[in-house]
Amino acid sequence: MNRLNAILLVKLLLVVGGCAALTDVNRYTFGHSDVTVMAPRCEYRVNPLGIDVAEPRLSWIIESEQRQQKQNAYQILVAASQENLKAGRGDLWDSGKVDSDQTAHIVYKGKPLRSGVRCYWKVRVWDRDDNLSAWSKPAYWTMGLPDPKYRQAKWIGYDAALAPSDKEAQEPNQANLQKAKTGKDKLVLPPPRYLRNVFWVYKPIRRATVYASAMGLYELRINGQRVGEDYFTPGWTDYSKRVYYQTYDVADLLRKGSNGVGAILADGWYAGYIGFGQKREHYGKDPRFFMQLEVEYADGTRQITATDESWKATYGPHLEADFLMGETYDARKEMPGWDRPGFNDSAWGDVVVTGTIPGLLQSYPGATVRKQLEIEPVKITEAKEGTFVFDLGQNFAGWARLQVKGQAGTKVVLRFAEVLNPDGTIYTTNLRAARCTDTYILKGNGTEIWEPRFTYHGFRYVELTGYPGRPGADAITGIVVHSDTPVVGSFECSNPMVNKLYKNITWSQRSNFLEVPTDCPQRDERLGWTGDAQIFIRTATYNMDVAAFFTKWLVDLEDAQNPNGAFPDVAPRKVAMGDGVPAWGDAGVICPWTMYKVYGDKHIIQKHYEAMKKWIAYLRTNSKDLLRPAYGYGDWVAVGSDTPKDIIATAYFAYSTRLLSEMAAVIGKNEDAKEYQALFQQIKDAFNKAYVSDDGKIKGDTQTCYCLALYFDLLPEQKRELASGHLIKALGEKDWHLSTGFVGLSYLLPALTQMGHLDIAYRLLASDTFPSWGYSIKHGATSIWERWDGWTAEKGFQDPGMNSFNHYAFGSVGRWLFGTVAGIETDVPGYKNVIIRPQPGGGMTYAGAAYDSIAGKIESCWRIDCGEFELDVTIPANTTATIYIPASDAESVLESGWPASTAEGVRPVGMQDETAVFQVGSGQYRFVSKYPY
Ligand code: BGC
Repeated sequence: MNRLNAILLVKLLLVVGGCAALTDVNRYTFGHSDVTVMAPRCEYRVNPLGIDVAEPRLSWIIESEQRQQKQNAYQILVAASQENLKAGRGDLWDSGKVDSDQTAHIVYKGKPLRSGVRCYWKVRVWDRDDNLSAWSKPAYWTMGLPDPKYRQAKWIGYDAALAPSDKEAQEPNQANLQKAKTGKDKLVLPPPRYLRNVFWVYKPIRRATVYASAMGLYELRINGQRVGEDYFTPGWTDYSKRVYYQTYDVADLLRKGSNGVGAILADGWYAGYIGFGQKREHYGKDPRFFMQLEVEYADGTRQITATDESWKATYGPHLEADFLMGETYDARKEMPGWDRPGFNDSAWGDVVVTGTIPGLLQSYPGATVRKQLEIEPVKITEAKEGTFVFDLGQNFAGWARLQVKGQAGTKVVLRFAEVLNPDGTIYTTNLRAARCTDTYILKGNGTEIWEPRFTYHGFRYVELTGYPGRPGADAITGIVVHSDTPVVGSFECSNPMVNKLYKNITWSQRSNFLEVPTDCPQRDERLGWTGDAQIFIRTATYNMDVAAFFTKWLVDLEDAQNPNGAFPDVAPRKVAMGDGVPAWGDAGVICPWTMYKVYGDKHIIQKHYEAMKKWIAYLRTNSKDLLRPAYGYGDWVAVGSDTPKDIIATAYFAYSTRLLSEMAAVIGKNEDAKEYQALFQQIKDAFNKAYVSDDGKIKGDTQTCYCLALYFDLLPEQKRELASGHLIKALGEKDWHLSTGFVGLSYLLPALTQMGHLDIAYRLLASDTFPSWGYSIKHGATSIWERWDGWTAEKGFQDPGMNSFNHYAFGSVGRWLFGTVAGIETDVPGYKNVIIRPQPGGGMTYAGAAYDSIAGKIESCWRIDCGEFELDVTIPANTTATIYIPASDAESVLESGWPASTAEGVRPVGMQDETAVFQVGSGQYRFVSKYPY
């Protein structure tokens, strides 16, 4: 069946299937649309619980097999019960027919929503012919905790000193810590606390919702079951300013009669080691737990169970749990039934109760951390007698699941590393003070399976010692853990090295999008470095849906802003306390701007607008004649060149000012927009006067100087070509190798492309000689390295003081793979008008990408065969696209076998730079052109 027939068949099925829906009484129109309304989401999430945005934003996508399909109008119904929704009664909100093509960020405008209410909703749309679609599948969200004054739960903890016997149990593990690393003889880590209580359920339940939070990390359990699938809850914030709670539906876990509720409470980011491993207790010393469980009975009555003085506490099998140091678990100390009713807790102690906490308690707005994948070992070696090394074949973040059988008291130790020493033992020196060691002590009753819960490691290799006998492959399974940011992109081309590069980028994203965008997952650092995040965010958006993730982190970033306007080096703040650094602090402007471009999110601009203005004001105050002083980290980890820091500083000052001017216009602040545009012009003039000579040479004369100036539009028109010539010369001098750090790198290929040097961009991409992406891949990289010379054939490992093999910053080239090689870009924000502009080169015979945008699926796949260029494109319904096809003339371009100019939905625009340009509506297209190159 050819594609056209397939489309006709699908249409027929849709028409037949759609007839049933015609019986749905409909007061507007009787025509029926083939459009389906999919993926209803609230605040970027699928059926979120516990929203505390008073007027949440709704979104959906529409799909259609027809070309040029559009949404003319929509209707949203929100009901307080499933029955009402089903019957078409929007008792909370009936938007009526709203003439609009908007499908994202539609603000709820119904009745005020009280705490705990469940809002069921659905949406239908009118298409371009005003025919009506069927309703979307029903979706829901619930509202979060009531106002603080109505909250009943108290913050509880357990601060008792360890019993002498517990201390002894901890002792042997402390030998794992090398004194040299932390300068301390002993590592004293407090054990996680176990908390419990019992409550009664008297009558049949209609609904049961629990709200839980901690200063620290919590695992909540009810009647022996873990609540939810999230890890490291409640997430990382500056706890002195705000702490989040999660909301779970627990109706299925409760039963009539007595119920047991328990929580394990660990240090986490709140009280444990984070950042440079010399210091714990960054936000507080003693973890606290908060829980409010609300039961609504079928008869309408309600009951609240909350953390208070009546809870009991103790220490249990967890002897240690720390992000950087690892976890120690003595299974002999398990307390079966501790999280169920009927457990004898008479030996447990009393909890301590803390009245208030310093920060706000709010609903978690992001993407919680979850287990994502499992990895089987590819190889096991015995590096030394009794020391087994498991190779999982992939560098990632997460932990290892251990399976073991042996005698009670047998101690199995797991250590983790990214790379091996030449003798096959694990190389851990680059982990610095992070001990990264998990210890499991067997209880000795058959096969035991164990996973840590309050730590994670960055690793490819697991070293196992103390294992009883010879471990088989099932002894270790890698568990990949990261924030639940769904994969939305895929990329493939005819160059296997580039495919590996793409995979490595996605792995470094997986490994570092863990609650906050971290620099690396393995050594004692793992911080939300702002420079890394802003350099990578555009690439990140192509790989995964990071909308909720960055919505959350941008709050961390604003919380961390210095009152003087300086955005920090890391967010959440603490640990590394610097701020105001060029290219790092600018994350405060670049990230919201990227969220706007990619997701069409204007709200994020409004939300952070004042903070962004303060940043620009700070830069202005701290510059002289609009030139920023040399300050900060410069072009971090560059090899073989040193870009002057004042160039980077002023270039970013100009760039952030320009972006803020654009954003001001978007939210209707037109005066500000003009003012910032004028300021941008003045900074540009100052930059040129101070740093650019008549022949286009820029002070420093490095690759990074030119990429920044070109990409940020800092040069007058007549100097762009000259500067581009200097960039080419600088590359030639390095024998066509890059010499940028991660600041310049992000703009290098885009700047070359803009200036018509696609061939050089492809040459850099495909290189495998030092320094290049290919060099690391040739030497076995399965993730992006922090440094070009992380390992070289001549010198071996770089200085272990700073040498991560899993840093996403150099992976910022991912945006060029999607945006230039496959050619998918957004034009009107939120992909309302898509740019499809594949730019073949580098000898590639095919390349393509698929991307689930906020507006729907976009695809662009090209191949070159026998002098023909073929391009398959998918453009989502309700959007349009501008398509650029390499061709010697527009007339000879065919679409699905016919002259493109006559094809349905295709409007020829003309020739531009050896491409034939067409404006198209939604749908699938196949273009073919003669390809003379
Ligand atoms: C981090 C970087 C970060 C940098 C700032 C490093 O330790 O790993 O990625 O941006 O410090 O200089």
